[in-house]
Formats: sequence, C-alpha cells, structure tokens
Amino acid sequence: MGKLIIVASGKGGTGKTTVTSHLGAVLAERGHLTAVVDADAGFRNLDIALGMESSIVYDYSDFISGSQELDDVLLRCGERENMYFIAAPQSASTSDFADERVEEFWNSLKSRFEFVLADAPAGMGDGFLFAAKYADEAIIVSLAETSSLRDADRVVAELEELGIDDVRLVINRMDAALVEDKILMNADDCIDVLSIPILGIIPEDGAVTGSMTRGEPLMPASGFGAGTAFVNIAARLEGQSVPMMKFTSKKRKGFLQKLKGLFQDR
Ligand SMILES: Nc1ncnc2c1ncn2[C@@H]1O[C@H](COP(=O)(O)OP(=O)(O)OP(=O)(O)O)[C@@H](O)[C@H]1O
Ligand SMILES: [Mg+2]
Repeated sequence: MGKLIIVASGKGGTGKTTVTSHLGAVLAERGHLTAVVDADAGFRNLDIALGMESSIVYDYSDFISGSQELDDVLLRCGERENMYFIAAPQSASTSDFADERVEEFWNSLKSRFEFVLADAPAGMGDGFLFAAKYADEAIIVSLAETSSLRDADRVVAELEELGIDDVRLVINRMDAALVEDKILMNADDCIDVLSIPILGIIPEDGAVTGSMTRGEPLMPASGFGAGTAFVNIAARLEGQSVPMMKFTSKKRKGFLQKLKGLFQDR
C-alpha cells in the first residue's frame, strides 16, 4: 500500500504546484510508481506544469460521480514510465462529493501507486480537505517570511487535528543574500516558528519558472540549484538521511574568497 502525501500551504503562491510536479518527476525517475493529483479544483494548473493540458479528457469528478473508471481518469505523463497524473475538475466543488467515493478514490490510488502526491489549494477550504482527510503525510510549503509561516502554522494545526502526525516543512525560494539583508528568515528560525521537522530547502532558481512554463518538471540536479534540492527531498522521502543544503550568499562567498586570498598571499 502506498501513501498519500498532501502538499499544502497557508498562503497562495508558495510553490505547491512546483514541489508536486518536480518531486513527482524525481520520485518516478528514481523508480517509484508515482501519481500526482491536482486537488485545486476550479484553479487547476498542475496540468500546465506537467505539459499535460491538451491530454485531459476526464478528471477525478468523473470517477467520484461513478461515470468513469480509475483508468479513464489516470493519464500517463508523456514518456515517463512511472508517473501518472489526474486532473482536477475545472468547476465542480469538491464539497458536493460523497465521502465514500472520495475515500475509494484515494484508496484505489494508494493500492496502485507507491507515492500519491496531492497538490492542494492554499489554506484549509474544501479542496484542502478533499485530500487532507485521507492523507498519510503532509508537506507544508512556505516561504521564509513571517506571514507565510504564520498562515502555514494554522494549516499544520488543522492537519494535526485531522490526525496526520507526519507533517514536514519545505522552505521554498530560499535566497542567502536576502537572509543576509534580513528580508528572509534563516532556515533555523523558520523551523522554530513552525516546530515541525524540515524536509528540504529549495533555493530561488530561475530555472524553476522555465521548467514550469515548458511543462517539463525534471531539472538537472547539479550544484546548489533547485534540481539538487528536489533530489534530496525525494531521497529523504525514501527514508535516506541527506544533509541539508548550505546557503551562502554570493556577497559572502566573495568575502570568504578574498579572505582566503589574503592568507594565501602571506
Ligand atoms: N524555487 C523557486 N525559484 C523560482 N521561482 C519559483 C520557485 N518555486 C516556485 N517558483 C515560482 O513561483 C510561482 C508560484 O509557484 P506555484 O504555482 O508552484 O505556487 P502554488 O503554491 O502552487 O500557488 P497556488 O497557491 O496559486 O496554487 C510560479 O511562477 C513558480 O514558477
Ligand atoms: Mg498551485
């Protein structure tokens, strides 16, 4: 039996769709049979991130209403052997769905896939509950700033209320120069605010927007870019212990290099 991991946040635009699509692609690439589900009914865009927008015929409301089988709503993500996608309805509200059918939907997915990632809408509305009520684990995606963390804290409390013990934090769009300038908080302070374990830190990386726009969610995992962060997060989800990426601003790197040069000159 696989597990359902909800990717949630307090504030909008923190990177849930980015994390769901890239993490799904990396998990699939590492050999795990993975399904990514757009739980953001009405505002779906996981299909765009995956380059699947022109392939959608059915969405999960067709399974939940009983008019289609799971295989009809499941789409293979292009050439990716292990990765499948299920679209959100464009309009239907998830609050109209019968609980037993929703439960059957998630259970059927968990019985077929190792990882099921649900890209939730921001906050704690119907779309969030659609996945959260049945989730085994949660990933909270937050920016390293007070307002994003404060809203995330409310979602963490709601997830705990729903009985989900495994709730981990992903800090997205980390930028060491902005931490140095006190515009963003450092990772330790973010962890202190939320008091949940950290799953990963993703750097601000222009390549993310490019891959989202092209609908190609797999990025080269080299150096200290977002691609490496996604690989590290996938490895941690597999249970591996991978050290957190260290963030040093270019300003500071230049200073350290100068200092090194000074000592070498002597
Ligand atoms: N690490 C990153 N570096 C640079 N840009 C990023 C990063 N993560 C996300 N973005 C950009 O931020 C924007 C919002 O990301 P995304 O759509 O994943 O957020 P979301 O949480 O799913 O939003 P919503 O709450 O509206 O569903 C996108 O334009 C995306 O390309
Ligand atoms: Mg989104």
